[in-house]
Amino acid sequence: MNRVTMVSIGAGLLALLCLTAAGEGPHEHAHPMIKEGTSAEIRQDDRVVLGLDRGPEAGMKLTMREHLEALQVIVAFLGQEKFDRAATVAHEELGFPKHHQAMQREGGATFPSKYHELAMAHHQEAEELAKAIPSKDLKRILPHLERTIGACVSCHRAYKL
Ligand code: HEC
Repeated sequence: MNRVTMVSIGAGLLALLCLTAAGEGPHEHAHPMIKEGTSAEIRQDDRVVLGLDRGPEAGMKLTMREHLEALQVIVAFLGQEKFDRAATVAHEELGFPKHHQAMQREGGATFPSKYHELAMAHHQEAEELAKAIPSKDLKRILPHLERTIGACVSCHRAYKL
């Protein structure tokens, strides 16, 4: 694919993102707001500390970095209209199979039950995304992508290492 095609696909995706956001109407949950931390909020940081041992913490961070890379790969495959490959990455790298690998890496560490719920909700959203991708309809796919990313954000707002 040449550069011009890539750029126009990129612009198209962006336009679709805007359209999807505009078409949703004024539902609070449909409009993710960037929560900009003030310096008081940074000082006041009331996220719950997980307090993991070094090994599990390193394993967890590795999983997290792979999550971010998975999102990048999914967006790239959607831009290239490689829907099957995007769906496979969503399922394998963010869905329930990833949970088993994450647990192995975290070597029996225990987490608060609310943390566990947020983790499962994130895998569930990714599975829904994987199911929506074969529709090849970006208007259906992008809201699922947004909810998947939203599940990352929910947990990051609540917990820290
Ligand atoms: C169930 C909770 C949870 C979910 C879901 C979650 N994360 Fe995290 N993630 C964390 C916590 C806790 C940290 C550590 C944050 C801190 O200490 O400030 C973290 C850290 C990270 C880091 C930094 C890794 C490093 O090497 O320091 C990245 C990148 C990241 N997450 C990406 C993601 C992405 C992308 C998703 C969604 C696809 C995601 N996370 C979903 C809990 C979660």
